[in-house]
Amino acid sequence: MSGFKKDFLWGGAVAVHQLEGGWNEGGKGISIADVMTAGEYGISREVTPGIIEGRNYPNHEAIDFFHRYKDDIKLFSEMGFTCFRTSIAWSRIFPEGDELEPNEAGLQFYDNMFDECLKYNIQPVITLSHFEMPYHLVTEYGGWRNRKLIDFFLRFAKVVFTRYKSKVKYWMTFNEINNQVNYRESLCPFTNSGILYSSDEDEYARERAMYQAVHYELVASALVVDAGHLINPDFKIGCMIAMCPIYPLTCSPGDMMMSVSAMHRRYWFTDVHVRGYYPQHMVNYFRKKGFELDITESDIEILQHGRVDYIGFSYYMSFVTQYTDDNPEFDYVEPAHLVNNPYIQTSDWGWQVDAMGLRYSLNWFWDHYQLPMFIVENGFGANDVQQADGTVDDQYRIDYLTAHVSEMKKAVVEDGVDLIGYTPWGCIDLISAGTGEMKKRYGMIYVDKDNDGNGSLNRSRKKSFYWYRDLIADNGNTI
Ligand code: BG6
Repeated sequence: MSGFKKDFLWGGAVAVHQLEGGWNEGGKGISIADVMTAGEYGISREVTPGIIEGRNYPNHEAIDFFHRYKDDIKLFSEMGFTCFRTSIAWSRIFPEGDELEPNEAGLQFYDNMFDECLKYNIQPVITLSHFEMPYHLVTEYGGWRNRKLIDFFLRFAKVVFTRYKSKVKYWMTFNEINNQVNYRESLCPFTNSGILYSSDEDEYARERAMYQAVHYELVASALVVDAGHLINPDFKIGCMIAMCPIYPLTCSPGDMMMSVSAMHRRYWFTDVHVRGYYPQHMVNYFRKKGFELDITESDIEILQHGRVDYIGFSYYMSFVTQYTDDNPEFDYVEPAHLVNNPYIQTSDWGWQVDAMGLRYSLNWFWDHYQLPMFIVENGFGANDVQQADGTVDDQYRIDYLTAHVSEMKKAVVEDGVDLIGYTPWGCIDLISAGTGEMKKRYGMIYVDKDNDGNGSLNRSRKKSFYWYRDLIADNGNTI
């Protein structure tokens, strides 16, 4: 092959809680993102018990895509997008999460938004759960700690699959399902599973709760995959994995084994999604730790059936780990066992920039699973400065993306991996998931808003907008 496939999907990626706003409009319920205040690099966001007057909740308005989606999609079309990855707010469809009937106004909003995309031949690519769920499911049920969430999620998925079966082909179940392994020390207080750890839960209890919640999510994902294929056999339903390959610091056998163990701990999720069963090393790990998880015979059958059609993944950075003598069993815990990579630079938010790691990741996934892949996030969070004339010279973003697309192309052309598409993160500036900041920008479209929520919300094209437009027009050949 000389380049990307003819029908390669080029687009951008966002998640509703980070861009939509309209948090209490159209019958939407309160979501877990709506009770999170703003933090910043090194300062954690806070979850308040309900909404407290006077606090800054950046996701309430976000960038107001709810009212401005027509203009934004027009700009995406100007860049030549052939797909647009977003999510559906569960709390817009089932405001509390446990109702029997969906909210028609919420369904209508996505109908209108998808129609607008399709008008420009932009395919929506939809994540069902992207760090967002009805807050009521947390206060009443404890989030994904509770098996009941499986039924609620399945109901939500069936409703949207049925409603949008002729408008959406590509779906994903849980965003970055594996990113919960490091939540014990994260900036974001909610785990991916809507769990808030209490202060009397020690490390052991937290880890156990995390694995239990993930198990319920994996069962829900498998049921959703099966249900989706019945509703429309042409659906392509993928998983979504946060890929940060974990290299050994040196070629010492101990470092090498530590890297194997770290990769096991972070990527077994893909094994379950793709192969339909837990890898033996995880079964052994649960036994060693004495976690007696609620995993039934019927769950095991469900996992076998509902296997995903493709692997969606995000790629921002790589990690490095190192063996130490006090850890003879290579027990890997994040971030305690991570060290800096002396060969690469970091962004202003401390993310290690490693373009070649993307080629490595594509090869790693391909060697393990031989399933088509979709890079559904990749990008550079930076503090952009808008000039007086409205322009933003984000050459550093162009450099980052050029380097990554070039490695991606080598993986396709030289290494022969099967890649469906590429949707860089935050194609339009939005609220950071980790910090709740506005100033950590990823977009090719600038949004006039600051961390305190001030600004006109006007959109303008950055230098990277034109770069990406030209890249898409040429199907990536110029790289
Ligand atoms: C991914 C998430 O982890 O990284 C996105 O799927 C998130 O929701 C993105 O926004 C970038 O992270 P951050 O913290 O810079 O917004």
